[in-house]
Amino acid sequence: MTQDELKALVGRAAIDHVVPGSVVGVGTGSTVNCFIDELAKIKDRIAGAVSSSLKSTERLQALGIPVLDSNSVERLPVYIDGADEIDRAGCMIKGGGAALTREKIVADIAERFVCIADASKLVDTLGRFPLPVEVIPMASSQIARKFEAMGGNPSLRNGVITDNGNLILDVHGLAITDPAALEAEINQWPGVVTCGIFARNKAAVCLLGTADGVRTLAW
Ligand code: A5P
Repeated sequence: MTQDELKALVGRAAIDHVVPGSVVGVGTGSTVNCFIDELAKIKDRIAGAVSSSLKSTERLQALGIPVLDSNSVERLPVYIDGADEIDRAGCMIKGGGAALTREKIVADIAERFVCIADASKLVDTLGRFPLPVEVIPMASSQIARKFEAMGGNPSLRNGVITDNGNLILDVHGLAITDPAALEAEINQWPGVVTCGIFARNKAAVCLLGTADGVRTLAW
């Protein structure tokens, strides 16, 4: 199976995790786009979606799925999103699509994070994928220096402005052996909006697309 076929496979499998009659938390990315297309087929059985990006909002609305303001929703039974990497404890690197901050906001009001990913995303240690960090523009250089001091190699993502009007630093060369500790450390640096480590908001379930079908990991 191609990577696109694996994404379509897990996008379909995620429908089983949608709670009928509820509002669904929807992530961002090419895997989630497959899920959105499937969600449209059962749109009459859900109350709508809370979206993590302008791109996902556009796709949801184009398919006739109502998108609710996250401020109007207290809890979501489930948030469904992809990942750039996921480890064997359900911690993830996210933000390859620059939507990490809104993704973390929506994930934080969900009871369960269901990660959908093709098998290439499963890793033993996070960090081969460069860590995306959303930063306030005036702080980008000082934050980059802090990453250099810890052995990382940060670069500003060219031409990218997030949905929140900020910049993305991609940090190469970090072996993230303690995701929760590093997430907490980076998130308290002045000027950091969010770092792309999802340890506090880690996955409860991962639907992994493999050549043998969907493999379910649960924590
Ligand atoms: C968006 O900012 C990311 O967190 C995506 O969830 C992640 O990059 C996975 O995207 P794909 O499904 O396109 O690989």
